Amino acid sequence: MVSRVIPVDPFDLVIFGGTGDLARRKILPGLFRRYCAGQMPASARIIGAARSEIDDTGYRDLVGAAIREFGGGKACEDGTLDAFLDCISYVVIDAKGTAGWQELTEKVTSKDRVEAYYFSVAPSLFGPLAEKLQSQGLADREARIVVEKPFGRDLETARALNATLARYFDERQIYRIDHYLGKETVQNLMAVRFGNMLFEPLWNSQFIDHIQITVAETVGVGGRGEYYDRSGAMRDMVQNHLMQLLCLIAMEPPARFDPDAVRDEKLKVIRALDPVEPHHIVRGQYEADPENADAHPDYRTAVENPRSTTESFVALKTHIANWRWAGTPFYLRTGKRMQARSSEITVVFKDTPHSIFPEDAGRHRNILSIRLQPNEGITLGVTIKEPGPGGMRLIDVPLDMTFAEALGPEGSESVDAYERLIMDVIRGNQTLFMRGDEVEAAWEWTDPVIKGWTERGDVPKPYDSHSQGPDAALQLIRRDGREWQKV
Ligand code: BG6
Repeated sequence: MVSRVIPVDPFDLVIFGGTGDLARRKILPGLFRRYCAGQMPASARIIGAARSEIDDTGYRDLVGAAIREFGGGKACEDGTLDAFLDCISYVVIDAKGTAGWQELTEKVTSKDRVEAYYFSVAPSLFGPLAEKLQSQGLADREARIVVEKPFGRDLETARALNATLARYFDERQIYRIDHYLGKETVQNLMAVRFGNMLFEPLWNSQFIDHIQITVAETVGVGGRGEYYDRSGAMRDMVQNHLMQLLCLIAMEPPARFDPDAVRDEKLKVIRALDPVEPHHIVRGQYEADPENADAHPDYRTAVENPRSTTESFVALKTHIANWRWAGTPFYLRTGKRMQARSSEITVVFKDTPHSIFPEDAGRHRNILSIRLQPNEGITLGVTIKEPGPGGMRLIDVPLDMTFAEALGPEGSESVDAYERLIMDVIRGNQTLFMRGDEVEAAWEWTDPVIKGWTERGDVPKPYDSHSQGPDAALQLIRRDGREWQKV
């Protein structure tokens, strides 16, 4: 299978925070891979902008090193990297002051190309940068800004940030990143649901018993302790990534695959979410890894806050109050330092209404598993007769579509979420970006949960490193006679 790459229009992309971690790990290697794939035109210009006092050569060295470290592949060796680095320059800039702005304005002059500004900086700089772009005459009507998460830390701050950005840019110019939306399988959710006749008639509470969404990570908080301890799993993962997955799995079919049609439907899901009952949510904090406590200390040690009550794990049950989903619970969970790295959506169908088979044949359920990572793919568990003599005994076998196997190496070649999303910015396609009202609605649902914890003085439950999370999370679903899919 040969993948089709359509080059994007020439562009100038300014990366504020161009020397930072995200730029080095994701944005710049991603751009390089698009360059190698022939999607990024050679006339494109990438301008790093940050406080570090380096020149163009110093920045190109930094970019080259980042690409070698974080995924340039073979292309680094054959001269392609040098050609890519020719597209790159750098400006020393003071986001709030005056230094560097004149130089940046001179670099971004031609109006015949797409102009995009990536805010890969601390959220406190989003507003000042937007204001600066406007006062320097860089915020013309075709310019785009790309805003990283976190987008606010509650409804109030998200509203204020939306209002600030709206002073300088139209909504159609603002690209709020949720990198989960750029993942291949996440988009495949829409393809599977709305490109097949098979699933949609069954996609409701009449046929679906419940849905689970799990995003489990084996890593701890790493070097991001300070940020993480102020956020916790609810803000860091549930409010955005898990919420987006929930929207795509639960939304009504949009009339068209266009940005506002899709986002209108997602917004309706968030607005229809029931508030989370306090006894339907469990928070956890990981303990040290007994085998390797120096390298993998407990959460509180990792964030250097011995009294921290921030959660590194959340499991919850919620309902969507509409005709399609009344009566079907959605179980969400995410955590750090868990048994395995696994992001998966599991759709568990109901039992057949009546079994024609003998009691001892067993009862089985169809389970549709959508694996986002690792090993992207979709599996449908189907009940068949166990082969051989001995009467009618039923077993489940997987109808497995692992993308790497089904599509071959070329077709399944994974495009990192950031690569895809940056190209979408240049193409001017907002479908995979969050609209301002969506982000606010997600906070509106999240805020009371966090406020409730504070008011009740809730303390997260400890859980073993490399486990399935706290025992209470297992009980949360067991009480309903169900089990989490194993991560
Ligand atoms: C980020 C969170 O948004 O997503 C991190 O801030 C988390 O805490 C990461 O580790 C997970 O992303 P991925 O793509 O590795 O699943």
